[in-house]
Amino acid sequence: MQRLSDWYDHPEYYEAIFGTDTAREVDFLAEVSRRYGTGGKRWLEPACGAGRLVAEAASRGFQVVGYDISEKMLAHARARLSPALRRRVRLHLSRMEDFFQPELEGRVDLAFNLVSTFRYLDSEKAALAHLKGTRRLLEPGGLYVLGFHLTDYERDKAEHERWVERLGEDTVVCNTHEGLPDRKLRRSAMRNRLRITGPGKDLLIETHWHFRTYDLAQARRLFRAAGLQVRAVFDFHYQVDAPRAPRDIRLDSIFVLAPGEAAEPAPRE
Ligand SMILES: C[S@@+](CC[C@H](N)C(=O)[O-])C[C@H]1O[C@@H](n2cnc3c(N)ncnc32)[C@H](O)[C@@H]1O
Repeated sequence: MQRLSDWYDHPEYYEAIFGTDTAREVDFLAEVSRRYGTGGKRWLEPACGAGRLVAEAASRGFQVVGYDISEKMLAHARARLSPALRRRVRLHLSRMEDFFQPELEGRVDLAFNLVSTFRYLDSEKAALAHLKGTRRLLEPGGLYVLGFHLTDYERDKAEHERWVERLGEDTVVCNTHEGLPDRKLRRSAMRNRLRITGPGKDLLIETHWHFRTYDLAQARRLFRAAGLQVRAVFDFHYQVDAPRAPRDIRLDSIFVLAPGEAAEPAPRE
């Protein structure tokens, strides 16, 4: 078995696991934009990775700007676009903490950031800078759709998820492990293992990182501080007809945020 580290250096295997719901996610985003936002054509994906959502949205006629911190993921994103799609897509090497393009200011109809990527921002300062920066790019009626797992600080067991997918002749087994949350440091230790087996192939890609933790109150405080109002909350089933009731928000939450409430001082945590 060959051992490798960092799944984002191997976008094809990352997407074999996370790319299976792409069309449904874009259906959901387009419908949320129509119902709660402008329904307009200009979309932005912070931390777009290998571009599965960018490519799907562009194939439906949206003009999409994506950016990511990983050149390898962006190279994969560029390579997957046909010349026709390339005319509708702009990709940039940039960070969530400080992405800014003057020509996008006030012009984005829909920004979106799913699958807990927002939790890579490892401090309140970084998260707030990202939210304020994204808000600045939105049309007055635009939306930021932000999906991430909230943390139950009372849980006393590590969390574990396992998926299996096929990629051509290969089988990809994904195991993700989230350790107990540290309430004081506001983070959880994460580990992902991708085991890829196929003809002449046996690979293990093991990645370690920390995710920032948020319970619902912490998330709501941060959104308010960034001048963003929660218009609706969904879960990871992407059912636009089934928003969560305010008293029944699940840990897997998708927040539909709109520029709104006046910014208040940043939380101290
Ligand atoms: C879970 S993947 C999501 C990719 C894509 N959004 C998707 O749904 O397939 C997380 C991505 O975030 C990127 N990333 C992590 N930290 C980042 C940061 N501070 N700024 C920009 N991108 C970042 C990684 O390089 C990776 O491509």
